[in-house]
Amino acid sequence: MKKNVEILSAELEAQFSFMAQVKALNQKEKRVYIQTFGCQQNEADSERLLGMAEQMGYQKVTEAEKADLILINTCAVREHAELKALSITGNFKHCKEKNPSLIIGICGCMVSQEHRLGDIKKRYPYVDFLLGTTLIHRFPEILCSVITQKKRFFWIDPDTAVIAEGLPVKREKGASSAWVSIMYGCNNFCTYCIVPYVRGRERSRNPKVILDEIRALLDDGVKEITLLGQNVNSYSPSEPENYDFADLLTDICALEGEAIIHFMTSHPKDATHKLIDVIAAFPPTKNKIGISRRFHLPLQSGNDRILKVMNRRYDSARYLSLIDYMREKMPDIAITTDIIVGFPTETEEEFLDTLKIVRTVRYDNIYSFIYSKRNGTPASEMEGQIPEDVKGERLRRLLDLQGAISKEKNNDYVGKVMRALVEGRSKTDESRLTARTENNRLIHFEGDDSLIGDYAYFYIEKAEAHELFGKLADAE
Ligand code: 5AD
Ligand code: SF4
Repeated sequence: MKKNVEILSAELEAQFSFMAQVKALNQKEKRVYIQTFGCQQNEADSERLLGMAEQMGYQKVTEAEKADLILINTCAVREHAELKALSITGNFKHCKEKNPSLIIGICGCMVSQEHRLGDIKKRYPYVDFLLGTTLIHRFPEILCSVITQKKRFFWIDPDTAVIAEGLPVKREKGASSAWVSIMYGCNNFCTYCIVPYVRGRERSRNPKVILDEIRALLDDGVKEITLLGQNVNSYSPSEPENYDFADLLTDICALEGEAIIHFMTSHPKDATHKLIDVIAAFPPTKNKIGISRRFHLPLQSGNDRILKVMNRRYDSARYLSLIDYMREKMPDIAITTDIIVGFPTETEEEFLDTLKIVRTVRYDNIYSFIYSKRNGTPASEMEGQIPEDVKGERLRRLLDLQGAISKEKNNDYVGKVMRALVEGRSKTDESRLTARTENNRLIHFEGDDSLIGDYAYFYIEKAEAHELFGKLADAE
């Protein structure tokens, strides 16, 4: 599979010339509005779309009404995300009526599905282009084609397995944090999941290129880097031979600087003891590059039969033994997970197995989802789909259980001192700042804006299920 991956260079040169062409055609400065749905990969893709747009003379605006170009970067993982994107697209019709020269493009996972493509073409005639995730590097070309040929274009090809290096990026995550995609696509074909059909086959970036990018981010003052991939544990570049994700982390931690490395997402079938040992060997430390004490390990279900039908290729015993090993090596590690409730045929007893694992592991947080039927995936055709009310009721029980566990775990921090990166003003209370700890706890505190982007120590005074409250303190 790796052999078919093409690293673009000549084609990218062509894209840079399309960027120059669009900039010349536009003459004066233009404005771009972007709305992003879904996961961090999509956020990272949007940063690339904005980077290219900037090179073409577009400044980002936060109101769609003021834009000359509207981009909607969509998600297809659950129906809810798709319906939201379609409804937003519907809302933009009035923008086009007011400004006929406005260009609207939809990118991302949703448009890479055959049935959506046809649907959008017909129902949203004012949308000028659709661009699939695997072709994102051809954004300048498609935009140039729309402008010069005054036609609609639909470029979708989920089977294209390319790695486009060297695209401009406009970092949006904040001055001190950045995403770095280390691989694209997925080969796992979990039976509920649409991702392999829309993001194409798995392909890993060359480690030298990744290390150069990280070095540049560190030089820029970035303190927190999140390595992205659908399954980072199966990172496997075509060279050097036998180089894996643990090797990449080791090389990153050998760089000079001070930063924390996060990564997501892991797959329990590919997470190894070697990887856990490397994470344990590089704790976040002052004046060094360290690996975060957060591990997101999707469980999906706690029942072995369901795991098998989901094609997850691990069982609950393997999952629990990984957790045990992680905690043995790093007692302070924060473990989070993804869980799907109401997968087709899931019985009440099988759902109870999931609750049992949640009680055993005592996660720091869980992301729980109601199973959503995805067109073209094997699970969508299975008999034994679970009624909506049963799925909703299972989700509530799961959330209640986790709410209680999170509160108990947070209470343990009261009276302790924690180190955290100050992120900015609190979203819920402007008079406070928030800081995030290495194990992903959010601390609210009173302080000065000059602290933003730096690490500080906090004495924890109060705990809720999802947040902590504290005050600035001296180091432990
Ligand atoms: N329905 C519900 N949840 C899903 N996920 C992926 N596909 C589906 C689906 N069809 C969840 C999984 C995955 C997370 C990103 O989204 O839990 O880990
Ligand atoms: Fe989807 Fe499974 Fe791939 Fe994750 S590993 S993106 S759940 S197919």
